Amino acid sequence: MQLRLTPCLALLAAPSVHGFLLPNLTGPYSVGTVSLELIDYKRNDNFAPVPQPRDLMVSVFYPTSSSDNFTLAPDCSPKVASFLDTLYGLPEGLAESFSSQAYENAPVRRTERPMPVVLFSPGFGALRQGYTALVSDVASHGYLVIAVDHPFDSSIIEYPDGRTVLANLTMQPWDFPGGIDGALYMRVADLQFVLDSLSNETITQQIPGLKSARIQRDRVCSFGHSFGGAASIQVMKNDTRFRCGINMDGGLYGSVVTEGTDRPAMIMASSVHPAGSIESWPAFWEHANGYKRFMRINGTTHGSFLDFAAVLDAVGPLVPPEFRSSFGTIGGARMLDIESAYSTAFFGKFLKGGRCSGRLLDGDNVKYPEVTFDNSNP
Ligand SMILES: *[C@@H]1O[C@H](CO)[C@@H](O)[C@H](O)[C@H]1NC(C)=O
Ligand SMILES: *[C@@H]1O[C@H](CO)[C@@H](O)[C@H](O)[C@H]1NC(C)=O
Ligand SMILES: *[C@@H]1O[C@H](CO)[C@@H](O)[C@H](O)[C@H]1NC(C)=O
Ligand SMILES: *[C@@H]1O[C@H](CO)[C@@H](O)[C@H](O)[C@H]1NC(C)=O
Ligand SMILES: *[C@@H]1O[C@H](CO)[C@@H](O)[C@H](O)[C@H]1NC(C)=O
Ligand SMILES: *[C@@H]1O[C@H](CO)[C@@H](O)[C@H](O)[C@H]1NC(C)=O
Repeated sequence: MQLRLTPCLALLAAPSVHGFLLPNLTGPYSVGTVSLELIDYKRNDNFAPVPQPRDLMVSVFYPTSSSDNFTLAPDCSPKVASFLDTLYGLPEGLAESFSSQAYENAPVRRTERPMPVVLFSPGFGALRQGYTALVSDVASHGYLVIAVDHPFDSSIIEYPDGRTVLANLTMQPWDFPGGIDGALYMRVADLQFVLDSLSNETITQQIPGLKSARIQRDRVCSFGHSFGGAASIQVMKNDTRFRCGINMDGGLYGSVVTEGTDRPAMIMASSVHPAGSIESWPAFWEHANGYKRFMRINGTTHGSFLDFAAVLDAVGPLVPPEFRSSFGTIGGARMLDIESAYSTAFFGKFLKGGRCSGRLLDGDNVKYPEVTFDNSNP
């Protein structure tokens, strides 16, 4: 199975590019954002193609109390944007023209109860910026969300000083030292380090208005797309602080496949993966003894979970229809609505509690006819 997420496209023309906004947030809160560099000097695994330290970049999204006097953050920096234009054959300047719906450096909203935290891990080769619309939308429902880039796996990472680290684009996860499980455990350790960093004052001070005691650091959830979905499920085996996990259309790897987990797990599948098509899903399902949900979203492809679908809706005629349809027939904003509604129902049930939370996960819902549950036959 090809894991690297690098759809190749060549656009017909190179029309002039205007500013584009990612879709509006669906949650009740405005969102703030900061990017942080987190360096793990103590790593002693040898799973990365280039040994330690692990120099991570993350984007933090959170409900903000005030968006006054702050401006919307660009979706990605000029350097990363230009890399994406070239990689995907987009008209020059297209990626740079996208703005997020999150206010850069706006202060964290004060809450009565500690704010729940969720971590996000991208698909293999994909960038954290490829999911800005999704993760900021989840934040708008009252979560501190941290999207993590994994060096040498993410195609490009830019640091605050302008340095970049590029992945070897011909490398698949099974080419990593330690093979595909090693590539997975590298991500697991990255996620653990990111969570550890929320207890480091030097780090948390860089999130405006954050009182680290006001976030739930010892009970978090993770979600991710493709290989990032696999990491989100495996990390629950490695670290008891991770209480629930969502895998978006990713084959599973690591010890969790044969050992299962007793923690809540959800798989969101695309239409291109009918029951039985991913061997690791039934294998894992048989050993998953806790709360579990398996849902499929009609009209989707593996790529539908990236912001691409929403981005392509916005740029409309700038992309050929056949390229748009490679991201599924579902509309981009609709897909975001569904992913976010079901993710936050799941996170709400296990991180916020409350009588009504999680009802959406109980079965068919007239508001979301695209979603079908098949909890016994993944
Ligand atoms: C997004 O929000 C803006 C500002 O509130 C509004 O003008 C616009 O119509 C909304 N767009 C959609 C597609 O709902
Ligand atoms: C925004 O800036 C203006 C002008 O400097 C100031 O009067 C106002 O109080 C600021 N708003 C907030 C919420 O800080
Ligand atoms: C990139 O990865 C491929 C596959 O593992 C390997 O053959 C090649 O030598 C690598 N290239 C570089 C520049 O490291
Ligand atoms: C996670 O658990 C697996 C299976 O026990 C182990 O092989 C791996 O080294 C662990 N990874 C980390 C980062 O602790
Ligand atoms: C906290 O983060 C800073 C900045 O990365 C680092 O220098 C320091 O060693 C960290 N502290 C701990 C206890 O890990
Ligand atoms: C998926 O959507 C297509 C096109 O809208 C429809 O024909 C089909 O019945 C739907 N399938 C399911 C399982 O809902």
